[in-house]
Amino acid sequence: MKLHPTGKFDNRAAEYDHIRVVPLASAMGAEIEGVDLAALNDAIFAEIEDALYRHKMIYFRDQELRFEDQESLTKRFGKFGTDAYTTGTPGHPDIQKVIKEADTVTPIVFGDGWHTDSPFLDRPPSISLLYGVDIPPYGGDTIWSNTQLAYNYLSETMKAVLAPLKVHMSAAGVMSVLEGFPNGAGAAKAPEGAPSKMGNIDLGVDKAAMIKGSFHPIVRTHPKSGARALYVEQTYSSGIEGMTDELLTKGRMSNFLAWRLPLILYGRGATYTGTWPTKPLLAGFSLRNRRNLPVLPDCAEHPVC
Ligand SMILES: [Fe+2]
Repeated sequence: MKLHPTGKFDNRAAEYDHIRVVPLASAMGAEIEGVDLAALNDAIFAEIEDALYRHKMIYFRDQELRFEDQESLTKRFGKFGTDAYTTGTPGHPDIQKVIKEADTVTPIVFGDGWHTDSPFLDRPPSISLLYGVDIPPYGGDTIWSNTQLAYNYLSETMKAVLAPLKVHMSAAGVMSVLEGFPNGAGAAKAPEGAPSKMGNIDLGVDKAAMIKGSFHPIVRTHPKSGARALYVEQTYSSGIEGMTDELLTKGRMSNFLAWRLPLILYGRGATYTGTWPTKPLLAGFSLRNRRNLPVLPDCAEHPVC
């Protein structure tokens, strides 16, 4: 049996009729073989969806996809979600180009901190699909964390403490960093004060709404698998509902929950590091079961609700 050494997660492949699944690590992740994502039917997709929720992140190598194929694949998972940062591709507003040219210099690498995508929204996306099109010969690794496994690491006492709590997700920290470079390296400033560009990426942000953010349960139960997972991370988690500034400054309970818990999430025991191949690859991952630390190659990010 290929169980996680702690016995708290089982990343073994299930038997399927239409796809072949090769697990990538004991903590999470799998490569799916024998699939043309541009020619799916319902039976094949049902197995892919099952594999995604089982392994949290799945790869498909050597895929040739048009924008329309990406859109069709995404809509099989559900409605398009909202991308809070970018404005989409002309004619394809739900496909976001993430471009980093070789000679572009930026003050920070967009998306390089541990995060889940746009959790400051009232309805954050639940899945992201990344399609690598033009990939550098080295670098750009992505690290994913299995937040179901991280939750399973917790004691029953800590699970009981977390159960009623909601985390405040806000982009205040990200906004302040972006605005700290108003004239440098392509990070221009919009008239209303919101950043409009990061390197080669055009930004279209609602700064006030992103800073205001949203409150979400720290412990999430996946609607299909029933698995519980942690929904707290290091980029946007900024406090705990009901814990006052006094607690923040004196007791630091909120800081503990928002910043210490991710240390469990991001330990090597709960993560998988993926190296992007030089051929086109599509990676899909459940945002309810993972946070990622992406140093992304050129690719399109494509979230759904
Ligand atoms: Fe992301």
